[in-house]
Amino acid sequence: MAHIVEGVSRTFNEFLLLPNKTSAECRADGVQLAAPLARHLVGEQSRLQLQVPFTSAIMQAVSSPELAIALARHGGLSFLHHNRPITEQVKDIQAVMAYNAEMRLRVGAGVNTHDYRERIPALLDAGADALCLDSSDGYSEWQARALDWTKSRYPDVVIGAGNVVDGQAFDYLADAGADFVKIGVGGGSICITRDQKGIGRGQASAVLDVTAARDAYARRTGQYVPVCSDGGLQRDYHVALALAMGADFVMMGRYFARFDQAPGAKVPTADGYVKEYWGEGSYRARNWQRYEQPGGGLAFEEGVDGYVPYAGDLNEGLAVTIAKITATMTSCGAVTLRQFHDNARLTLVSDQSFHEAHASVDVRPSLN
Ligand code: IMP
Repeated sequence: MAHIVEGVSRTFNEFLLLPNKTSAECRADGVQLAAPLARHLVGEQSRLQLQVPFTSAIMQAVSSPELAIALARHGGLSFLHHNRPITEQVKDIQAVMAYNAEMRLRVGAGVNTHDYRERIPALLDAGADALCLDSSDGYSEWQARALDWTKSRYPDVVIGAGNVVDGQAFDYLADAGADFVKIGVGGGSICITRDQKGIGRGQASAVLDVTAARDAYARRTGQYVPVCSDGGLQRDYHVALALAMGADFVMMGRYFARFDQAPGAKVPTADGYVKEYWGEGSYRARNWQRYEQPGGGLAFEEGVDGYVPYAGDLNEGLAVTIAKITATMTSCGAVTLRQFHDNARLTLVSDQSFHEAHASVDVRPSLN
């Protein structure tokens, strides 16, 4: 008989953080946002760290060299997309490497479970710092085989896997050698996977389940395998919630697609500018790895092709997001992400209290 897992599927909108005591030492200018990217022994440091816990989605409409450069300069990481010939992805890595030679910027690259034997050596030769197996459903033997192949040839290479939504799938990929595991099925802003296939899980429930499994795995094996909350972060405070729930870092598509540095065209409308943003499972992307059926032909779409509001320069937008997360952390009495994970107190919100969160006056248009 089919098994029904306990609890309902919850999203970030259903949670709020309770403020904790803010000590005099807990100040915004002391907050550290460094996050581990690679598997490491408990108590030791990851061999690859992010300086801010942001990565950009493995998507044509998001992770171009220009965006990768801008994000890496803030200490984040882009995973350049792989839905194209190997030579083109290599060229993009080289473009990031060539920027501003005195500052070695980090860059990641997406890989698939089809041509990894050819793609991975080429990406590593070009200088990729981290790889990520990219699939809408990563709980598969294909990913375990790709991890095994990679680790047996390149034991020191950082390679993540995913996506998953529960502890059982996390354990499978962690046992298979993943350096980090990515969480999220069906929550992305351009995603229609749940509508089309009926699979997925509310992102908050998925993050809570997987982070509990990560902690149990660390206790059991002495190895800490970081996890990433990918997709469905519609508001800046959702990032704070994902981190509070235990995600080591986040991956975002829509968020980055809004900026000048993202590859989508900027289009004028009556209400201002928008930027193009399309899913990797849309007909426009024609992603043969994530979504195409064996035998060729995209049988159905799992993503849409649309627009997002234009948000200007990444440097300015990201600075505001970081300021908000820093402010949330200090309100919660945390100056490191580890303290945030350990001490965060969350509450479920009712429909009524969700509405109470918004302004209940007619808001005057901002003067700036
Ligand atoms: P967003 O930040 O909510 O826009 O979600 C971005 C994430 O959605 C990506 O990192 C992928 O995991 C996922 N994704 C990308 N393209 C598609 C698609 O076409 N269908 C479903 N999910 C997608």
